[in-house]
Amino acid sequence: MEFKDAMAQRHSVRAFSDKPVSDELLDALLTTASTSPSWSNTQPYMIAIAKGAVLEELRETLPPKFDELVSLARGSKIRQIKAKLTNNGVPDGDFQPVTNYPKDLQPRRNATGHQLYELLGIERGDKAGRHQQMRENFRFFNAPVALFIFVHEGLDVYSPLDAGIFLQSLMLAATDAGLGTCAQGALALWRSPLEKHFDIPTHYKLLCGLSLGYEADEAINRFKPKRAPLDELLVPVKAPGNAV
Ligand SMILES: Cc1cc2nc3c(=O)[nH]c(=O)nc-3n(C[C@H](O)[C@H](O)[C@H](O)COP(=O)(O)O)c2cc1C
Repeated sequence: MEFKDAMAQRHSVRAFSDKPVSDELLDALLTTASTSPSWSNTQPYMIAIAKGAVLEELRETLPPKFDELVSLARGSKIRQIKAKLTNNGVPDGDFQPVTNYPKDLQPRRNATGHQLYELLGIERGDKAGRHQQMRENFRFFNAPVALFIFVHEGLDVYSPLDAGIFLQSLMLAATDAGLGTCAQGALALWRSPLEKHFDIPTHYKLLCGLSLGYEADEAINRFKPKRAPLDELLVPVKAPGNAV
């Protein structure tokens, strides 16, 4: 595939078919992605691969955790404090999930959300419909493979930067091979369910997940959120008189 075509065709896939991904193919995609550049070539990330029985176990255990979290968020303050004290239903991921979006970014987030729910026919006030859709994150959108990306705590922001480059390489390699992907910050909410299956070094922190597989023919996969105009991404040049 031409580079430009791979860029244009990659999109977040939120419904996967049952078609399995072979170990050889997965290995080849990860090998390609591992040629990505990184800070001093340190490659400050590790990947846990969940498939088969491990993935099915996670697909069973994560959605109820999400249900509990949402019910907690909508519940009384006392219940929330109790949950915090008993560590019950509260996320135990390594990074704080983003809940309060900065004012200048919120409109882009809202626009994306509205476009998605409109496509799916989920009304604004349909809390159950939105919950159901978000819950699919924790079922890995039915994908046959889920990857969890951990970053070394010792390189500050450069570990997540390098992991992001790796992720994009992996997503493009997958597109090139006819597969779909969805990067998922949602999968960083809980670390403990992964500890059960993987021997994760403590200095590696859970950054995000990625579902991978073959795309199902469903409307949600035709979602193409618009991008901000390029102007908005460019730092304005100061007028010559104001330059320091
Ligand atoms: C770091 C990261 C985290 C993301 N987390 C989620 C997520 O938790 N759930 C989800 O459905 N999509 C998630 N996405 C996908 C974005 O919503 C998506 O990339 C964006 O809307 C642009 O759409 P596109 O990927 O189809 O081009 C994430 C993407 C990135 C890069």
